[in-house]
Amino acid sequence: MEQKPNAIIATQYPSIQEMIIPGQGLKTPPVSPFFMDVTLRDGNQALRKPWNLEEKEIIFKRLLKLGVQGIEVGFASASKQDFEACSYLSSLAPENVAISSLSRAVEKEIDLSWEAIRKAPRPRIHIVYPISDFTIRNVLGISEKQVKENIIRSVSYARKLAGNYGEVQFSGEHFGDSLENMDFAVEAFQAALDAGADVVNLPNTVERYRPYLFVAMVRKVVESLPQGSKISVHTHNDLGMATATTVESFFAGATQLETALNGLGERAGNTNTYEVAIALHNCGVKVDLDLQTIYETSRIVSRMSGVPIPEKAPLIGDDVVAHRSGIHQDGVSKTKDMKKGAYRAFDANLIGRPEGDRIAFTSQSGKSAIYEILMQSGISVSKEEASKLQPILKSISENYGGGELSIEEIKTELEKVRSIGEFRS
Ligand code: KIV
Ligand code: ZN
Repeated sequence: MEQKPNAIIATQYPSIQEMIIPGQGLKTPPVSPFFMDVTLRDGNQALRKPWNLEEKEIIFKRLLKLGVQGIEVGFASASKQDFEACSYLSSLAPENVAISSLSRAVEKEIDLSWEAIRKAPRPRIHIVYPISDFTIRNVLGISEKQVKENIIRSVSYARKLAGNYGEVQFSGEHFGDSLENMDFAVEAFQAALDAGADVVNLPNTVERYRPYLFVAMVRKVVESLPQGSKISVHTHNDLGMATATTVESFFAGATQLETALNGLGERAGNTNTYEVAIALHNCGVKVDLDLQTIYETSRIVSRMSGVPIPEKAPLIGDDVVAHRSGIHQDGVSKTKDMKKGAYRAFDANLIGRPEGDRIAFTSQSGKSAIYEILMQSGISVSKEEASKLQPILKSISENYGGGELSIEEIKTELEKVRSIGEFRS
């Protein structure tokens, strides 16, 4: 029998049975993610005005407050200022936080990274080198054999410098574009591990394709490398899917997740830390971050980076807790005291937002909105009164071009109709 086209497409996804444990809900990996923050490196290098030392220190302290497990403090060899920042922040680092500095696969840069971070209780040299066929041929202009030799040489060099004390991370730049030479990508990561890397990082340096393709590539690496290898992902948001890609990569076996505050980073940014953390939390994963600090952190980072938060930004945007349509307002009202809300994707309290669901009245709104708005502002009103007031307020709003009515305007109309006995039946 001929298969329907949608059935052919569907075979590429895990089945629902593979995602749940009967009677227990969603399957979750038995580990917590290791959040390796890249705000001070990838985020900073993409700012119109990169941060100075004092500014970096403020962000660094916010990251410690949030409780990330690792912080990439900079690119020590990029400038004198970057070196000093890496060195100073390393001296402030607590015991349990990995502190890394990025370097290309060049001994001089590796030396500077190590020199800058060696004071940290848990220093990590991070080496990046391209591995995709396209970049090897068109940017490096060398053979795969030479790429592998350079990886082995640089990682072995870093391993020797760091000894038993420091850690070494290897990133295969453009991994997400390595579909044509996937076998080589696996070989490159294996070579890095054999040369002494503690962690291999799989970047989606430029987001070009669908999340599931990247995740399938991550799974291939996870299955090909020895069990227990530490695998990380670092994704960019060029097509707006970095959160999905990172979250699903965790379920595919990548336990280190590289993310940035407010999604700062090159071009459309890096994966947003808050979105990944809350998506995983919602799926039952134990996220070892102080989620309560998210909202305040987002405001500080926006102010300091000069990058505004769009009002529809997931979790932290000003308007994302607002409900304006009548159907939604009814659902919000009926489930407001329940753990799960009909239209509530996340708990505003959890991320330290000062307010939760906000109901506003426009020409699209219903009687539940009037009831909730008045009751929340301390004015007792019956559901019947709210129902009678709805067409009056709707028509006023329509005269405004459909715009939102203030609480004062709603109160005034209530008082007016009450005073003329409109609600007496
Ligand atoms: O996007 C990228 O490939 C990077 C690497 C340094 C990990 O930022
Ligand atoms: Zn990056």
